Amino acid sequence: FGQAMRYAGTVGSTQDEARAWADDPHDPAPHGAVVVAERQTAGRGRRGRAWDTTHGTLVFSVLLAGPLALPDLALMPLAAGVALQAACGVGGLKWPNDLLAPDGRKLAGILLEADLRGEEARRAVLGIGVNVSAAPEGAAWLSEFRPGLTRAALLARILAELERWLAAPPQAVLEVWRAVNVTLGREVRVVTPRGILTGTALDLDAQGSLLIRTPEGTTVTAHAGDVQLVG
Ligand code: BTN
Repeated sequence: FGQAMRYAGTVGSTQDEARAWADDPHDPAPHGAVVVAERQTAGRGRRGRAWDTTHGTLVFSVLLAGPLALPDLALMPLAAGVALQAACGVGGLKWPNDLLAPDGRKLAGILLEADLRGEEARRAVLGIGVNVSAAPEGAAWLSEFRPGLTRAALLARILAELERWLAAPPQAVLEVWRAVNVTLGREVRVVTPRGILTGTALDLDAQGSLLIRTPEGTTVTAHAGDVQLVG
């Protein structure tokens, strides 16, 4: 990844820049092309949230050329989380892929957007934002834990880890995710598109969905959603 790379000052969202580059008929972005920006005016996070790009954050998007089978896409957010944790060398993953500092503040986030076409994705754009030397209110930044790690060095590390983990066998991704997560065994409240699930986070299934034991003793599955750790 990163053989083709564009560096921009201010953009709306690097996700849109990566798509626009992929669609450029004269110079289409190849698989693994990267767009890095200094600032975003319309950075977005998961579930429609805004992603603040303050000074001192690393924000970039990677183009994943398709076609991508939907089952392969399911584990990608977790594989990207494993790669991010390995590259940063600190913190734990909150399902599916928020990187939290040891004290629970958020260090980095991942957004995977797939452009679907029938039963497959014709491409996907993986966006990552890491608070490196500064962070929005309440969030953590990497220099607190890894002083001296520059944004350029961090980007190179993340790209190398992404190449490795996006190609890794599902079993290996799940195994490492389990080893570096801060979700399993905790009381959680998961806001899903279909409603709120509460209970104990038990495990992942083979697709990377989160299995939750409810207070009534049944096990329910969250395929997508936002976890709040409540205990
Ligand atoms: C989240 O935690 O909700 C995901 C945040 C992802 C933010 C990154 S920053 C680079 C890329 N461009 C965007 O607009 N969003 C992602």
